[in-house]
Amino acid sequence: MKASGSRRERGAYFTPQAVAEALANWAIKSRSEIVLDPSAGRGHLLAAAEKRLRDLGRKRNPLIWGVELHGRSFQKLVTSFRAWGISDKNALEGDFFSRVADLPKCDVALMNPPYVRHHDIPTATKDTMVNALNGTRGIVDGRASAWAYFLALIPELLKAGGRIAAVLPTDLLASDYGEPVLAYLQKVFSTVNLIYCDGDVFPALSQQTILLLADGRHKDDGRKADMKLRRVRYPVQGQDDFSITSKRNGKTFSAGDTLPRILAPKSALAIEARLMKRSDVKSIGDIAKVELGYVTGDNGFFHLSTADAKRFGLSDTHLTKALTRERDLLGVRFTAADWKRRMKEGARDWLLTPTNGQSRGVRNLLKRKAAEEAHNSHKCDIREPWWRVPLVDPPRALMVYMGSKARIVSNTARAQVSNSFFRLTTIKDLSPNDLAVASLTSVFRLSAGLNSRLLGGGLLKLELSDARRVLIATHSIRSRDIRRVDNLLRAGQWDDACQLADRLILERGLGWSKTFIDSVRLAASQIQ
Ligand SMILES: C[S@@+](CC[C@H](N)C(=O)[O-])C[C@H]1O[C@@H](n2cnc3c(N)ncnc32)[C@H](O)[C@@H]1O
Repeated sequence: MKASGSRRERGAYFTPQAVAEALANWAIKSRSEIVLDPSAGRGHLLAAAEKRLRDLGRKRNPLIWGVELHGRSFQKLVTSFRAWGISDKNALEGDFFSRVADLPKCDVALMNPPYVRHHDIPTATKDTMVNALNGTRGIVDGRASAWAYFLALIPELLKAGGRIAAVLPTDLLASDYGEPVLAYLQKVFSTVNLIYCDGDVFPALSQQTILLLADGRHKDDGRKADMKLRRVRYPVQGQDDFSITSKRNGKTFSAGDTLPRILAPKSALAIEARLMKRSDVKSIGDIAKVELGYVTGDNGFFHLSTADAKRFGLSDTHLTKALTRERDLLGVRFTAADWKRRMKEGARDWLLTPTNGQSRGVRNLLKRKAAEEAHNSHKCDIREPWWRVPLVDPPRALMVYMGSKARIVSNTARAQVSNSFFRLTTIKDLSPNDLAVASLTSVFRLSAGLNSRLLGGGLLKLELSDARRVLIATHSIRSRDIRRVDNLLRAGQWDDACQLADRLILERGLGWSKTFIDSVRLAASQIQ
């Protein structure tokens, strides 16, 4: 977030007019209200505020304030202020967190704070933000993106009864650091409503958008706002159609709930609740230890094909079988034959694991420019020696945690699994194959869907803590039946494999009624 930084570094994505006007129309209730945008850009939100204040009857000098870091954007903001008849003094150049003392208490904060991720925020900038937070410092996690700091500080600048209308990324509901900020807003506003924009408000970004409308700023006195979320389609046909006022009541939710859970039909949540009470259904965390796969620090350097290994004269003693890509998982099991076939096709699934740095092949490799680059990466630089990827025994099963087909696969290849997967170890009561088939049932699919987070571009992801909560139906399956499911999957018949898993485990194995199985299946199909 340098004033001279690129658009991405500053998180500069300007609010479309239709959204800006909808927010200003909701937030500004009277012509005498004071409005602030703490990261005003060229003034897209404030232009809507100015229009709204005039529509409400303000003849002269709307009471508008804006702060902007970037010089050129700031100049455009000043030009707009002049055109609106507002004093230049109300446009502040610089970092919002350093200018708080220069701002008045406001009735309304209109904001679209920068979407800059924590590792792109320079340390000095982060220090300024943390220092400015004072009382709310504790609620912003060190891994938070810049928008979370803006959201945590802005209530301090509001008068009693004040409002926030903000444009935010879906990370608000998909990140661990969004949760405490939302929980804080719940304590200092009378109402907190979210509007999930289903579509691309910012086509240049991989994030989807949530509009936050918080009303009735008050002191933290133990009250908690009811929080509701509604979904609207975006883009809309004509810009004028974009309205955020609705008679429809949103869905009530709590801080920490993910979007798929909030958007799920009540009936699906009721099925989940019934499943949780059953003794033949357990959560993954009760059956196995779940951890992230190995981290190399530089996959391009540490993963080699058979041809690469030959070229550098590396013997097998310095190499370890690895699994790095979901698309190599064809069946219920990942077998040694699967791994060999992929290597023959040119996959780079040898993991470099030198026993020492002395052999000729290893020395050749460590002398390359690519090695120097790998060494400089943060993860490599902090380990000793930098070229040894920390490994423990290969897991007996692994979990796919990205995408809409989260599942468990048994690892008969005994390959090391990269951080594209979770490792499942110390598995109790069931075999890895049982777990793999059970992860195709409607029980697992419903639970994985409800516990996943919705990332930008509609991508689903289970975090480690989410994965441990996912439910699994527990039943031991005969080898012959495991083979049948494996064959279907390998033939690309995903739906048939899932149906067979339901029949083998839920119906035949556990004796559930067809009606109940159908209701679990329906619920699983209704999740995002
Ligand atoms: C997402 S844009 C939104 C601009 C405008 N509010 C809008 O809605 O169109 C965020 C803006 O914040 C500015 N910015 C980034 N960090 C800032 C900071 N610490 N203080 C003030 N402005 C900042 C960027 O330069 C960028 O113009």
